[in-house]
Amino acid sequence: MLTVGVGASTGATAEEVLAAIDAVLPPTAGPVRLATLDARAAEPGLQEAAARRGWPLTGHPAAALAAVPVPTPSDRVAAAVGTASVAEAAALLDGGELLVGKTALGRVTVAIAVRDDTGDVDLRHHGDAEVAPGLVDLAVNVRADAPPAWLREVLHRAVDASAGYPDPRPARAAVAAAHGRDEAEVLLTAGAAETFTLLARALRPRRAVVVHPSFTEPEAALRAAGHPVERLLLHPPYDRLTGVPDDADLVVLGNPTNPTSALHPYATLAALARPGRVLVVDEAFADTVPGETESLAHRTDLPGLLVVRSLTKTWGLAGLRVGYALGPADLVAALAAQQPHWPVSTPALAALAACTTPAARAEADEVARRLAVHRSALLAALPDGVQVVGEPASAFVLLCVPGGAWVRERLRERGWAVRRGDTFPGLDGDHLRVAVRDPGTSRAFASVLAEILAEVQTPEETR
Ligand SMILES: Cc1ncc(COP(=O)(O)O)c(C=O)c1O
Repeated sequence: MLTVGVGASTGATAEEVLAAIDAVLPPTAGPVRLATLDARAAEPGLQEAAARRGWPLTGHPAAALAAVPVPTPSDRVAAAVGTASVAEAAALLDGGELLVGKTALGRVTVAIAVRDDTGDVDLRHHGDAEVAPGLVDLAVNVRADAPPAWLREVLHRAVDASAGYPDPRPARAAVAAAHGRDEAEVLLTAGAAETFTLLARALRPRRAVVVHPSFTEPEAALRAAGHPVERLLLHPPYDRLTGVPDDADLVVLGNPTNPTSALHPYATLAALARPGRVLVVDEAFADTVPGETESLAHRTDLPGLLVVRSLTKTWGLAGLRVGYALGPADLVAALAAQQPHWPVSTPALAALAACTTPAARAEADEVARRLAVHRSALLAALPDGVQVVGEPASAFVLLCVPGGAWVRERLRERGWAVRRGDTFPGLDGDHLRVAVRDPGTSRAFASVLAEILAEVQTPEETR
């Protein structure tokens, strides 16, 4: 992906903008996108230039651009717009290397950065890969203890009834009733993750945008099916959802978001739905928020909205593979057409029916309320030198720790597994994701972390 950073004077025409870009753009350029200062993104000349070529155009705040190191900063530009570089900083903001430095043509300045979006991180790395016998698991965000006794009872009975092929009808009816939806709007799946593969198989997106940092399976599934994917990288603390291109016909994001634990207001997400777009909201962690306040699961009025849900987290059922999606009947039918026959097992269907009753949902809410108390205990115990990213709202917190990769290794040596951050696009080795556990476990973890951080401050040779 090439990012062309553009600085343009007010009133610069589309012809001027395109002439400046064409003067430096390599003839064999692949996908291109334009980036500029947010105040400039509304300029008609820039907008028209982007529209003529079908290039996405993103505006960034001056403060975000000012934070990007560039080869040719300018005091004059800094005084005028609040960042010492527009073109180079906008080109480099999402990473990559500068291919063409700041080049001016008339009233327009451009710079080009190139970034390899495909092989940069292992999108198929998940927290379970970090767990090993003997380690306390803070890497996987699934309830640590076994499912409640009544649910294990349901599962055992379902195993006993598994001689026949599964009948999805009672589970579908239960899920539909729980969310006030029509049964035709319910897709039962082998875990939330299955939905992403079904989407990648069923859709032919022109412009697929995945908001990051977030769970990486949606992007991995889209890429595996051969679809180009654009990443929309949010800026720290990753809670301001801006910059979704108007013409994106597939937008994928999570709420609350793994790994940032950011909870976006439902109105912000609802505003992204529009005819001609499939808006996928991964709500695998929605039931970790008391009252599910920002969930869109019940919204049947928003065009193209697909809400993805999971039983994995709150009910401790990662190994069962059980989830569902809620959306317009035609989209649900298109996704179902990509499923194998009998995609969800009899025990998983039994869990769906059992975990969507009013009593079970009330129990899940109780778990979410307790989780919030446990999260506060974890946050209160964390030592100085650890930065908590944003305002965590889910079953995990994202930390920024200087020397994070080294710290993670030391934690492992001391018996603690945390989730590395650097396989999430937009994060780096200093980011560590930590699951919320009971306060005793969190405090024990925090004190080991404090000891390790004290070592970091000790000179290398004494370690
Ligand atoms: C945000 C998010 N969505 C979906 C999933 C997958 O959930 P499931 O186990 O239901 O496939 C995960 C698992 O880690 C996740 O973090």
